Amino acid sequence: MKGSSSPAPQQAEGEINTSARRVDWAERTHDAKSRELLAEDARYFLHQSVSTPCLSTIAKAEGAWIEDVQGHRYLDFHGNNVHHIGYGHPKLKAAIAKQMDELPFAPRRFACEPATALARKLSEISPGDLSKVLFTTGGSDAIEVALKIARAATGRHKTISFWDAFHGAGFGAASVGGEQMFRSNVIGPLLTGTEHVAPFACYRCPYGYPDKDGEPQLDLCKMTCANFVRYVLEKEGDVAAVIAEPNRAVPFIPPPGFWKEVRSACDEHGALLIFDEIPTGLGKTGKMFACDHDEVVPDMLVMGKALGGGILPIAAVLVRPELDIAGQYAFGHYTHEKNPVTTRAGLTTIEIIEEENLVENAATLGASAINRLNEMKDKYKNIGDVRGRGFLFGAELVLDRESKEPANDLAEEVFYRCLDKGLSFKITMGNTLTFTPPLILTQKQMDEALSIVDEALHESAPA
Ligand SMILES: Cc1ncc(COP(=O)(O)O)c(C=O)c1O
Repeated sequence: MKGSSSPAPQQAEGEINTSARRVDWAERTHDAKSRELLAEDARYFLHQSVSTPCLSTIAKAEGAWIEDVQGHRYLDFHGNNVHHIGYGHPKLKAAIAKQMDELPFAPRRFACEPATALARKLSEISPGDLSKVLFTTGGSDAIEVALKIARAATGRHKTISFWDAFHGAGFGAASVGGEQMFRSNVIGPLLTGTEHVAPFACYRCPYGYPDKDGEPQLDLCKMTCANFVRYVLEKEGDVAAVIAEPNRAVPFIPPPGFWKEVRSACDEHGALLIFDEIPTGLGKTGKMFACDHDEVVPDMLVMGKALGGGILPIAAVLVRPELDIAGQYAFGHYTHEKNPVTTRAGLTTIEIIEEENLVENAATLGASAINRLNEMKDKYKNIGDVRGRGFLFGAELVLDRESKEPANDLAEEVFYRCLDKGLSFKITMGNTLTFTPPLILTQKQMDEALSIVDEALHESAPA
């Protein structure tokens, strides 16, 4: 069979679910009850990288915590970025229950109040004049709606996106994504015209320019990463859209002025700018949207994940009113397009984020967390770079600061030690400890989590 003989794809996301360290951790952590559930999962689910076979089990999720079937509790600094308001927020559960009693479903030919109220609310909180919306059940679908709108609006089909980006697992979303695991070998032909360029990544500039302690040296690089987007726009001459995460989830933040430069290049070449804010939207980076940091308004903004409050699946594409140009067609004809329960969840989630000042919390506690990681960097020479914004931050581990050789094994060791001590997070790109806590996190919980990271580093990495 082709699949089994194909080479394993390069690993960019998450921990490898078959690594020796994982096997060892599982052997000393799981009891018979856990093993049985994990075996059932592996028996019935299709195996795929970064999910089945699973890391562990889960029986409870509450606030910032998850708990396995054996009663081990973990502060969840991963949460797939759905848990902005914490798991099982009482106000959200009550709103969902009430909505299910009042109107559990709406066939999409019928307007319903929660769906229109959420659409209005999103237009109010989004940057610029983004004000027309379509809802989907997942982020990948919403990305593909945006791609279709870009085609209709420009009469072009080509796109420019970043290598290493993830935009979803559907064929269209994987075509603009840049990770082997979702697009290469067994996957087969993808959309045509999906050009990719190297992303901004100042600590590891793909164009080879040196950084200064993680910061770009703009006098040397002249922001080649942004210029290259312009270059491809010019060479192709008929690109419909540039699509990207404004703040990469790795996490890499853009060099100052990057998005302004790309925005003006798009305008000059008649291309639209689509921001994928599926993980970053609704406050993760310490502003309501990551693009607010860069003061750039896209033509389309896609959000998802936390929009359903960590309970229900809903995503959205939000566009400028001038892009409402394909009324004769059906780009987002999804069964749950106007589901009153998922849209009620979205509306209530935003209310909670506003009432509890969660965006401000992410900004303040996130800044202090980055300071604390920088203090650890002074202590542990294996921390090569600390970066992030708000509650999307991380530390990249290296074998040597000079060579920057990635310390993948060390990252795994730290990860499993942290799990042992009650902290869950995700490793990205093999060597970056990536932390994305819920926005309801308290200072005490943040201190506790970072002390665990400090201890795990102390035990695994020489000072
Ligand atoms: C940046 C980004 N875009 C798109 C998606 C896809 O969203 P979904 O899994 O809801 O299809 C994800 C999910 O992880 C994501 O992180």
